[in-house]
Amino acid sequence: MPEQRSSQWYAGDDRNAYIHRAWMRRGLPAHAFDGRPHIAIANTASDLTPCNAHLNEVAESVKQGVYEAGGIPLNLPVVSLGETLVRPTAMLWRNMAAMATEEMLRANPVDGVVLLGGCDKTIPSLLMAASSVGLPAVVVPGGPMLTGTFRGVPLGCGTDVWRLSEEVRAGTLSQEAFTKSESSMIRSRGHCNTMGTASTMGLVAEALGMVLPGLAGTPAADSRLLEAAHDTGRLAVEMVAEQRTPAAVLTRGSFLNAIVALAAIGGSTNAVVHLLAIAGRLGVELSQDDFDRTGSDVPLLVDLQPAGRFLMEDLFRAGGLHAVLREVSDLLDPTAITVTGKPLVDYLDTAEIWDREVIRPRADPLLPHAGIAVLYGNLAPDGAVVKPAAASEHLLQHRGRAVVFDSIEDMHARIDDPDLDVDADSVLVLRGCGPKGYPGMPEVANMPLPRKLLQQGVRDMVRVCDGRMSGTAYGTVVLHVSPEAAAGGPLALVRTGDFIVLDIEARRLDLDVPGDELALRTPDPATVAAFANPQRGWERLYVRTVQQANTGADLDFLTGASGSDVSRESH
Ligand code: FES
Ligand code: MG
Repeated sequence: MPEQRSSQWYAGDDRNAYIHRAWMRRGLPAHAFDGRPHIAIANTASDLTPCNAHLNEVAESVKQGVYEAGGIPLNLPVVSLGETLVRPTAMLWRNMAAMATEEMLRANPVDGVVLLGGCDKTIPSLLMAASSVGLPAVVVPGGPMLTGTFRGVPLGCGTDVWRLSEEVRAGTLSQEAFTKSESSMIRSRGHCNTMGTASTMGLVAEALGMVLPGLAGTPAADSRLLEAAHDTGRLAVEMVAEQRTPAAVLTRGSFLNAIVALAAIGGSTNAVVHLLAIAGRLGVELSQDDFDRTGSDVPLLVDLQPAGRFLMEDLFRAGGLHAVLREVSDLLDPTAITVTGKPLVDYLDTAEIWDREVIRPRADPLLPHAGIAVLYGNLAPDGAVVKPAAASEHLLQHRGRAVVFDSIEDMHARIDDPDLDVDADSVLVLRGCGPKGYPGMPEVANMPLPRKLLQQGVRDMVRVCDGRMSGTAYGTVVLHVSPEAAAGGPLALVRTGDFIVLDIEARRLDLDVPGDELALRTPDPATVAAFANPQRGWERLYVRTVQQANTGADLDFLTGASGSDVSRESH
């Protein structure tokens, strides 16, 4: 075994080594400091991140595994982001969580790390952090909730909130029934059970190779999660011995595998910004266009909400991620290894589909081409993203008049106004919602439809926004428009009444305004006034340094890695 990094703190007879050991001697025996690996458990458990609250129990299982393999486990609570509660958007804090976790891993005497995440931003921030530190690291995704039912019908977290609230607005569901459904939505511990961002990132983390093979997607309440957490603790000790770092696992090939997986499972568009940000930490060449090139011909095989019918518990029962990946294994990079050191594809041979309604065989996909389409045009010079699987067939090619909102408040104030000049062919535009503009790029792109159109039976319209969309939402929504309005993007120049042309097949998003006329336009003062202008603290740092969605919305000074070396002593 190579000398441990932690031995820089603990080895020797001098005063500093004494201090480092003595303060850790609260139950740790002398042999804890004999050069065995110290494994941090970066734990995002928090009562305010209810999706991750059970991770303390998971951490206990990881600890047992670490001990069993001869290591010393150390619980390290890290910044935790609860998607539903944190304002103005958890995405504003993803980079802060990543930075704080990175620095605490580097600053402390640890040799490897087990990353415990679940709720949307937690796994991305942990992977960004671990990639920039470069210590051996492995993820335990906390797993989805069990399926809750309301009036005999399964409820999908998130997706059914949108659906039920639209039903209330359309007058087809009573407010009382809506409120009653609240207690049925969250049946157990765990994260959202739809194919939202949390489910997506757990599965994608495994496709990347960063999870003990077969673990991702195990429901949070399933005993097998604790067994796999125990095994992950053992694995972390082995990974330190072999110095299997994130850079060894996360190659371009593993990112392309993740893109294939993302498409086949019908995963969240948020995975695009997260994977780009993780790749940026490692210096792996990956662009938004890779998602279209590699992902858009992959068949959609998993029939989960929001695009389909089932929920995460069903996917697990039907064979899980490996059964899905086996169907598309010819599209996977056979050289991309996992945390075990063995290639991902080695784990797929024995996988089987147990329910062909939930996981469709390759020959009978839900859609022949899934994935994410990246659009370009004079409205999105650096690209915009759309998920064709969540869009309506009749809107894939569309030309309509823009109805423009400068902010989320402006949209809420006017969207249900009976006098709003809007019809089913209109294109709803919401700007000021990018990384800088909001700040933090919230999940608002799936704007509610005007009440008067809902009452006419309209259920989808083309929407264009520089923000993100919840992974649990659906509709013909063009999002991540780059550059955003607040960063000088042409989205700031759109006026109500302009025609917008969307052509998903041709990958185009254009404003039908002559170039010379557009060149003369400047943003309206009201548009600019709606952009965030924070004066201090994290928000100010964020707005000044955040990059655009097309490269992952990381802070400019956080891309890349610093390794695990710390040059100076604290005493
Ligand atoms: Fe935590 Fe959906 S709110 S995963
Ligand atoms: Mg979300």
